[in-house]
Amino acid sequence: MVHLIRGFKDILPNEVEIWQHIEKTVKMIFEDFGFSEIRLPILERTELFSRSIGEDTDIVEKEMYTFADRKGDLITLRPEATASAVRSYIQHKLYAVDPIQKFYTIGPMFRRERPQKGRYRQFYQINAEVFGVESPFIDAQLIYMLMLLFSKLSVDDISPHINSLGCLACRPKFKEALVTFLSGKTDQLCSDCKRRKDKNPLRVLDCKVSSCQEALEGAPATLDHLCDGCREHFEKVKDLLEKLKVEFVVNKRLVRGLDYYTRTTFEIQTGSLGAQSAVAGGGRYDNLVKILGGPDTPAIGFAIGLDRLVEITNLKKDVYEKRLNVFIATLGENSREMAFEWACDLGSSEMSVEIDFSNRGLKGLMKRADRLKAEYVLIVGDKELEEGSAVLRNMKTKEQVSVPVEGIVDSVRKIVL
Ligand code: HAM
Repeated sequence: MVHLIRGFKDILPNEVEIWQHIEKTVKMIFEDFGFSEIRLPILERTELFSRSIGEDTDIVEKEMYTFADRKGDLITLRPEATASAVRSYIQHKLYAVDPIQKFYTIGPMFRRERPQKGRYRQFYQINAEVFGVESPFIDAQLIYMLMLLFSKLSVDDISPHINSLGCLACRPKFKEALVTFLSGKTDQLCSDCKRRKDKNPLRVLDCKVSSCQEALEGAPATLDHLCDGCREHFEKVKDLLEKLKVEFVVNKRLVRGLDYYTRTTFEIQTGSLGAQSAVAGGGRYDNLVKILGGPDTPAIGFAIGLDRLVEITNLKKDVYEKRLNVFIATLGENSREMAFEWACDLGSSEMSVEIDFSNRGLKGLMKRADRLKAEYVLIVGDKELEEGSAVLRNMKTKEQVSVPVEGIVDSVRKIVL
């Protein structure tokens, strides 16, 4: 047989319930905070990602699924959604309707990383993006919204790590200090970092190779090189988080793996996922709309790793598990004919219903009802039908009542709902 591609996975029906519950909760909370859903394509021109995420990043250099389509155009399975959200904001001139736009989107992303627990080649993200707001209030509000979502989803053992990467005004001085620092460390750097250190030295800060990590001991941090505007902005974000009683860690080493970030960056880190500690990440990208050809527009957003979130939630099964209201067990040809219509009627009156069309006996049918976690079983035998009634069994209390065939759909509905 043909198997799955490495790093890809099926999400089976019994696993999907928690995904649906999380997605429903996300939609509720994000919409309460003024976000609207946007649906974006999975394929985009390669150039969109190389220009926004950055040519020297691991994602663009090593991880994208890129291929030429039949006409020879280079296209890429999206490794993230921010670039597409920006493209859409510009392409549809949404800024002309209102420069402030708040989107969220949920869907698959693709990165050809080495698969391991919490790291897949097709994974899912929940993205939220805000355009047109420069104020630090939105930075704090986004982090607050994320933490609220995690608490609603019973995720413990997480903490927001925050940092500021500065802006176009303070970046050059910082770069200079970093390049000077790195020039004495060239021997310790991996081959990627040797190549990147002059062109894009910030990328070295994000390198996971242990010799590079050691070489970075004592390296300058953006936080110590912020201009007045960026410092005030960051101070305000911290004040607001304190006001909102969000506990956070200032992490000078948090640089993120994508080039577009400016000012506030953050990651929600967890101790529950082994090597993959980030369950969400984001930050400002105040220059990206302009870089991609739109008007100068500040922006900020984040993405949650949905696969990772599913792995660390402590939600109890009964919160998200689907229930089957009624299982109809028919015992005989006549009863099946009759109950078939009831099943369709019940199913169209806001109840979940399963009817078994096989010829198995009552024992087998009850077993299946148990497996499907039915709340009630409607037992319909030819003999009972002759007497004009069926039996409704409450699977929890084991109580049974006789229900007349006349008006059975309404009667069952009244009892079950
Ligand atoms: P990112 O840090 O690359 O940021 O990804 C965000 C989250 O996606 C990570 O924290 C992680 O939970 C999840 N993730 C990433 N790669 C994988 C993988 N291979 N397998 C499973 N989960 C993964 C971004 O993508 C930015 N676009 C976030 C953003 C939105 N910044 C501003 N707006």
